[in-house]
Amino acid sequence: VTGDQRDQVVGFLRRQGLLAHDEDAAMTRLTGGVSSDLWKVDLPPRAICVKRALPELRVAAKWSAPVSRNRVEHAYLQFAATVCPGRVPQVLAHDPVAGLFAMEYLAPDRHPVWKQELLSGRADPLVGEQVGALVGRLHAASAADRSSASVFATDDNFHALRINPFFLDTARAHRDLQEEFLDLAARTMSTRAVVVHGDVSPKNILLGPDGPVLLDAECAWYGDPAFDIAFCINHLLLKTVLLPALSDPLFESVRRLMAAYQRHVDWEPTVALDRRVATLQPALALARVDGTSPAEYLDAERREQVRRIGRSLMGRPPSDVDELVERWAALAATGTDVRSSRPRDHREGTRP
Ligand SMILES: Nc1ncnc2c1ncn2[C@@H]1O[C@H](COP(=O)(O)OP(=O)(O)O)[C@@H](O)[C@H]1O
Ligand SMILES: [Mg+2]
Repeated sequence: VTGDQRDQVVGFLRRQGLLAHDEDAAMTRLTGGVSSDLWKVDLPPRAICVKRALPELRVAAKWSAPVSRNRVEHAYLQFAATVCPGRVPQVLAHDPVAGLFAMEYLAPDRHPVWKQELLSGRADPLVGEQVGALVGRLHAASAADRSSASVFATDDNFHALRINPFFLDTARAHRDLQEEFLDLAARTMSTRAVVVHGDVSPKNILLGPDGPVLLDAECAWYGDPAFDIAFCINHLLLKTVLLPALSDPLFESVRRLMAAYQRHVDWEPTVALDRRVATLQPALALARVDGTSPAEYLDAERREQVRRIGRSLMGRPPSDVDELVERWAALAATGTDVRSSRPRDHREGTRP
């Protein structure tokens, strides 16, 4: 922790009345993120977290609006806390000008990170179901809230952090699928229905004693709900390539996540949303091997396997998540696509 960071955080906590002027507090950097500084601060009554968006991401992609990103994350946490209390960390203080906020610290012994649980071989489909229900409740509440479209009007940010690295950069590595990637990017950007979290990844979900807790809402955006679900199930499907022994509970997690999610969808027909999820996920899978932020846990052989599965699915896009899971499983196990004889006529936009 540098002196500057320390002064900034201590100043913030004193202005907010969380730390007395004659008191000091130990600060520890929490690692793991690429877009923010995050510290655990041991205040006299209890530990808290302080988050500050970085001027630039620590990966290749750039997004130079740190203060607004922090404001968006804070707004998302406030919104989510009113809809699903306890399912996001409680916000304790916020300085929108400095771009800092404080939230409760959730101790790792009682709140393990879902990603670590999965990588340790524990894939409980109930967690998938709980995450699906949580995201469904949040989406439905935001669809019904008139102010959410303007509070989360973050198209530029979402484009820079999600559309560019995941769709446009990946399209350059798969020239023959360029049109498909561009269509998905355009469809996603032009679909406006709910407040999307934008980073529903197992590394941003803590498994608390009362259920999952969603972190890291810097990419929140009023847009296409399919993105959150496709993004999350993409992580689960990629884990089947890394951990084939966990395939069955992972596939079951995906199915239960989708089923629980769909029970909350009341703003559009579920078939349309199901199709968008199923068509987005293969593109996101390819993005995790050939886009700007590749999954760090896949070696060259597994990356090639993901490439093969993703390309086959993108060539003949699945109509729904059930078909997606069935074909992903067959492609991963045998290398052949169970629906390879399907005509290529059911892509979005190509129907009469
Ligand atoms: N409120 C919190 N309590 C405990 N741990 C947290 C909290 N917020 C974040 N973390 C831990 O820090 C990591 C990074 O935080 P995150 O908000 O995801 O930042 P980044 O945008 O840098 O990814 C998380 O994956 C989690 O392990
Ligand atoms: Mg994170």
